Amino acid sequence: MTSPSNAAVVLVTGGASGIGEATVRLFLEKGATVFAADINEGALAPAVDRTSSFAPRACPIVVDVSSSASCSAMVATVVERAGRLDVLVNSAGVWAEGPSEVVADEEWDRLMNVNLRGVFYSCRAAIAALKETQGCIVNVSSRAGEGAVPEALLYCVSKAGVNMLTRSLALELAPSLVRVNAVCPSDVDTPFLHAQARDYGGDDPEGYLTALRHRLPQGDRGRFVQAEEVAELVFYLASPPAAPITGECIRVDFGISAR
Ligand SMILES: NC(=O)c1ccc[n+]([C@@H]2O[C@H](COP(=O)([O-])OP(=O)(O)OC[C@H]3O[C@@H](n4cnc5c(N)ncnc54)[C@H](O)[C@@H]3O)[C@@H](O)[C@H]2O)c1
Repeated sequence: MTSPSNAAVVLVTGGASGIGEATVRLFLEKGATVFAADINEGALAPAVDRTSSFAPRACPIVVDVSSSASCSAMVATVVERAGRLDVLVNSAGVWAEGPSEVVADEEWDRLMNVNLRGVFYSCRAAIAALKETQGCIVNVSSRAGEGAVPEALLYCVSKAGVNMLTRSLALELAPSLVRVNAVCPSDVDTPFLHAQARDYGGDDPEGYLTALRHRLPQGDRGRFVQAEEVAELVFYLASPPAAPITGECIRVDFGISAR
């Protein structure tokens, strides 16, 4: 695989915001050509503008990862424009919470379609190109894919699926020297988390965030993970020193899962 710090071509879904955007920026800083793919066209243009110092190595693509055709078109665009694909980072994702007894069918579909099918569709579309480069995939999963979170069944199930997808695909692609790993953060300080607090924090979104922070083993001294900290691990997993690492789902969670 080409080192992600030089001529590598990297595709990041969910690249307009949060962990995806931080990952786009880090790979650009290291010299890669980076395609930032997102459903939110309105956020994608400013996100790519913020990386204008790296033009023309920063390229926007509009995608809906819950559509198989859209994922195929996304990868085809990358290969057509850059001639190769070295790294696929699947960061697009959505949240929902609430008691299972009132979950609507549409909500089940939304979470599974974006968080799980989206990862599969993107991976499936990229496999042929990644085999050519002996490239790699990094899925942005969640610590909620390893340990259950109360009243977040849909999200936990979707991310548990991503973790098993990661392990299964890693074994399947190992003979082709394509690696597949996942990063599993606890709460990350991104628009995702603040939207979660707004949508589910009732009249006290700050209190909702404080309660999440207090779940951490660090207690009063706990803080949320930063998007840049996750991006650094994603970058490492795509780098040559990580060559022996595949099929791993690595927690970035201040030890919350060690309990
Ligand atoms: N923020 C957290 O606390 C946290 C914790 C653990 C894991 N994660 C995971 O990290 C990933 C990134 O989350 P984030 O915090 O950066 O969130 P974010 O909301 O800041 O970014 C997610 C991006 O995904 C995009 N997206 C949503 N649906 C899409 C679709 N159908 N097609 C294409 N793009 C789509 C959104 O437009 C957005 O730009 C997600 O998979 C999330 O589940 C987040």
